[in-house]
Amino acid sequence: MRQKIIGIIGCGAIGSALAEYAEKNMAALITETVLYDIDARKAEALSGKLRRAGIAGSLEEAVDKADLVIEAASARIVPDLLRAVFDRGKDAMVMSVGGLLRSEDLLGAAREKGITLVLPSGAVPGIDALKAADIAGIESVTLTTRKGPESIKGAPYLSEKGIDVKAITGEDVVFEGNALEAMRGFPKNINVSALLSIAGIGAERTRVRIVVSPAYTRNIHEIEVRSKAGIMTMRTENVPSPDNPRTSYLAVLAAVAALKGYFDTVRIGT
Ligand SMILES: NC(=O)c1ccc[n+]([C@@H]2O[C@H](COP(=O)([O-])OP(=O)(O)OC[C@H]3O[C@@H](n4cnc5c(N)ncnc54)[C@H](O)[C@@H]3O)[C@@H](O)[C@H]2O)c1
Repeated sequence: MRQKIIGIIGCGAIGSALAEYAEKNMAALITETVLYDIDARKAEALSGKLRRAGIAGSLEEAVDKADLVIEAASARIVPDLLRAVFDRGKDAMVMSVGGLLRSEDLLGAAREKGITLVLPSGAVPGIDALKAADIAGIESVTLTTRKGPESIKGAPYLSEKGIDVKAITGEDVVFEGNALEAMRGFPKNINVSALLSIAGIGAERTRVRIVVSPAYTRNIHEIEVRSKAGIMTMRTENVPSPDNPRTSYLAVLAAVAALKGYFDTVRIGT
């Protein structure tokens, strides 16, 4: 594969891990990394640790320079960013998958234009099996997420319903609904349900439960898929990333694995 320039939008936990991995391990494939962050100090700090990285003065400049644009910033920017990337015929990888839920037409646009759009499996296992089961037909997908009060406080749904998560002493189901309702109520905690929706039966039919307990020190995701292929149950207890406690370390690693996969002609798993 020919060598590429990657553009990283968002130099936080995921963007930094990607840039550092690319520099150390992918020099034969990635000639340069172009960094952009709305907070210029973040891009500068990361660039200071790298030898083959430059800073873009704007989002547009990063998109113009890169062959592969990696979003690791915020769900809010995803639709506009992808339109700009696709207009220029560049490839993209999106971490803030929740930003695609109301703009799923962008997946069709990428396919039509022959653009590679990578959505890493992020914080959960089982996306491979979900995609395989979908060939025969999926009856239901249910995600149960278990979180400590700290990682969910400030969500709009909680203030709407007058729920004080800090007052919860045992295990409490604070939300039950579909993935679209989860997106409205918990916009910062929805990447997992968004990816399950896109890979499976859509956001209206994907069920989400959020359970809070002060005893939970890790983000626990349990996924049940009922399909013609059988019943699958996946469970992960995710250690938080040392650089951003709201992001699972597994999601950081999945981003790196997806970047490696983008360049690899050997595909393992579905
Ligand atoms: N797919 C998944 O399973 C999964 C898992 C964890 C995180 N995420 C998502 O990935 C994204 C990055 O996660 P992270 O842990 O690296 O976050 P982070 O907070 O550590 O870093 C995000 C960076 O993006 C920058 N940023 C914010 N808005 C921006 C904008 N408009 N333009 C440019 N830069 C901007 C911030 O200044 C920050 O440096 C988040 O949106 C997060 O929700 C997805």
